[in-house]
Amino acid sequence: MEDCKMCMVPQIQLDVNHMMSATLGERGISEQEVAALRDAAEKAYENVRAHRGQGWLGWTELPYNQEAVIADIEKTAAEVRKQFDTFVVLGIGGSALGPIAVQQALNHLHYNELPAEKRGGPRFYVEDNIDPERMAALFDVIDVKTTCFNVITKSGGTAETMSQYLIFTDALKKAVGDDWAKHIITTTGADRGNLIKLTRENGFKHFIVPDGVGGRYSEMCPVGLFPAAVCGIDIRAMLKGAACMDKRCQSGDVWQNPALMEAVLQYIATERGMNVQAVMPYADSLKYMADWFCQLWAESLGKNVTRDGKPCNVGQTPTKALGVTDQHSQLQLYTEGPYDKVITLIKVGAFRSTVEIPHGCEEFHDVAFLGGKTLNQLIEAERQGTEYALLKAGRMSQTITLPCVNAGTIGQLMYFFELTTAYEGELLNIDAFNQPGVEESKVASYAVLGNEAEKYRAKQEEMAKRPALSDKYIF
Ligand code: PA5
Repeated sequence: MEDCKMCMVPQIQLDVNHMMSATLGERGISEQEVAALRDAAEKAYENVRAHRGQGWLGWTELPYNQEAVIADIEKTAAEVRKQFDTFVVLGIGGSALGPIAVQQALNHLHYNELPAEKRGGPRFYVEDNIDPERMAALFDVIDVKTTCFNVITKSGGTAETMSQYLIFTDALKKAVGDDWAKHIITTTGADRGNLIKLTRENGFKHFIVPDGVGGRYSEMCPVGLFPAAVCGIDIRAMLKGAACMDKRCQSGDVWQNPALMEAVLQYIATERGMNVQAVMPYADSLKYMADWFCQLWAESLGKNVTRDGKPCNVGQTPTKALGVTDQHSQLQLYTEGPYDKVITLIKVGAFRSTVEIPHGCEEFHDVAFLGGKTLNQLIEAERQGTEYALLKAGRMSQTITLPCVNAGTIGQLMYFFELTTAYEGELLNIDAFNQPGVEESKVASYAVLGNEAEKYRAKQEEMAKRPALSDKYIF
């Protein structure tokens, strides 16, 4: 694997051998099928290239255009690290999954449990749900007097996040009185929603979610960068990694652009009935990267109308699994269940720890043979075992290798997935940047809660007309 000249870390690698008929046999994708999509792929590339930095493609420029904001993030993060012992992100969906994934990838796997001097930054929590038990549990482990809350919502009005805002501002006012606003840092859109108004009204320190950066594409802006910096992550290296991947994807030729090749292969696979993509990192550090990817892929591509207004129902369903844990849970289905999945294995070349397995149990050969090996060898052997089992069963799989997990490779990986998603949206001819399907449930839940505004009252009336439930079906 080559070193990237920009981020000075080895490049991540996409190996699609096991997607292709040359390796997988008749269930694989042939080069002719890829060639047949050459024009469509070029067009997808060209559309994304031509609109770089514009409209909802604002995120494509994030690796390059944030010098001033990065300086502000670093300065503010340093202050937070000095002043607070706990840092809580309030946000949901795209305003939470990136921070969670990056923290898990780049910090100690038991970060919060480390003693303060080893941690180097505040304890870190992301409240991305409104489960009352979880909220009560958080209050049991934090002291609001020494906690900084980063309220993240691009729209500035998401019910989950704003209800959390109300809960914590109330708690802060009771605990620290007039100083309450010093505990709040907001990250929100510049000119819409209530949070920016509250920010101005209360003088909160704040960061702006730039225009053209949707929630699930926002990890490389203050949404993701600020929490990462607070926890000591090298955000400049992350951005360099993203820029490095961007540079590798500057071609309309699928053989020269890994994200474009990936989009084309997933497009063909889905056309062939592989309606599911299971992302299976073989590393706990990447466990939540799979969650982040699932939202990106699902919310971007699950659409019922094409850009030119024709009805469609498209989108490959992403699911997550963890190697090796899910070998003992999901793999049976992946190898012998329906031929409807692509398995994306994520491999780590060099783990940050090495654990040797001691010798012992000499009387039991199958136990004893493990002695003298490392867990590093075992996890990779099991990944290769899974890859082989999938191959033998005629299942499409691919492997993304991170030579090591660091800020540079994580930046590459996230940008790779974002770009792949944008190309996939082009191939499907849908808008990969909206989420109208989410709106219905939002409006319906406000109606259920009895919001008096006209749109919710109308929804209440509509909901009252739904079919009555029959006791017959309730057990
Ligand atoms: O990707 C998206 O746009 C969504 O998942 C949003 O991030 C999510 O709904 C939260 O929205 P907001 O950041 O406006 O609170």
